[in-house]
Amino acid sequence: MIVAVCSLGGAPGVTSLATAVAACWPSTPLTVPVLVEADACGGDLASWYGIDTDYETGLVSLATASRIPVPVPAPAAAWAQAGAQDASPAGEPLLHHAVELPGGLRAVVAPADPVEAGRAVDALVSKPALLGTGKATVIDAGRAVPGSAGAALLRHADAVVVVTDPGNVGHASRLRACAPALASLRQEGVRVGLAVAEPCPHSDEEVSQVASGLPVWARVPHDLVGAALVRGEHRSPTRLRDRLAAWRSQRRDPDGLEWMPLIRTAKALAELCDDLSGIGAASPVRRAIEVGAA
Ligand SMILES: Nc1ncnc2c1ncn2[C@@H]1O[C@H](COP(=O)(O)OP(=O)(O)OP(=O)(O)O)[C@@H](O)[C@H]1O
Ligand SMILES: [Mg+2]
Repeated sequence: MIVAVCSLGGAPGVTSLATAVAACWPSTPLTVPVLVEADACGGDLASWYGIDTDYETGLVSLATASRIPVPVPAPAAAWAQAGAQDASPAGEPLLHHAVELPGGLRAVVAPADPVEAGRAVDALVSKPALLGTGKATVIDAGRAVPGSAGAALLRHADAVVVVTDPGNVGHASRLRACAPALASLRQEGVRVGLAVAEPCPHSDEEVSQVASGLPVWARVPHDLVGAALVRGEHRSPTRLRDRLAAWRSQRRDPDGLEWMPLIRTAKALAELCDDLSGIGAASPVRRAIEVGAA
């Protein structure tokens, strides 16, 4: 399952939401979620988490490896039948290029340099087979306006989440202009939905109307504490409302983070996307063509 998260500009929180969705993915011993930061404008995760990008991990190494044909991975059911757990890098070549972020999330981070990142995304667009070797892959596709490398990447996803801020009149106009191209992805078997950044005064129906009928899958709350956590900064809640929410939630689940509205929303969105994989979002025909073309 590949979920791509993107925007049409304006930094509405794509990297934050993609990271949180990958971290909240309903994982099992057979499913290791991987976040791929494939933003052609350059990445943020390395600086957020103080990661030194090397030549053995990261988006550039993934793009280099993607030029070599990869074997089609055995389906999870086959591993389960054999009594084995195929969560190793050997079973998922994508994991070779990932680092482990604090908290355990595996991430393929992009270089901050837009020239390097742009080249790597172009290479992945033409040879996407490695992206399909993860069992649950969340791609940060950055700004995916029509004609961009990010937009080309969306065609290789099973589901696309477009983060948008239609409360801002400029963003709303861009959404109106770009929505037909996004909606046309559905003809290729890609599910497309919107994540609306709050605060937004418009109802889901109004937003959907502007966006060529694309459904609203999530409303992303403005959440400074959750956003800081996703950036790798632990910050204790200071507002009374947040402290009460944390206290109540921690009585039920001491390790839980879902009292943070951003994390709660990301978890619900991850579950929705995971459900989509069970109702035919993944197109076996498209995947077969990609593997063949690699
Ligand atoms: N739900 C949120 N509530 C509050 N702040 C947020 C939220 N989501 C993201 N932010 C903050 O907004 C800023 C931009 O977020 P982020 O980098 O995720 O956006 P982006 O769409 O990926 O931007 P870009 O297009 O530049 O890559 C960051 O400082 C982030 O911590
Ligand atoms: Mg970003």
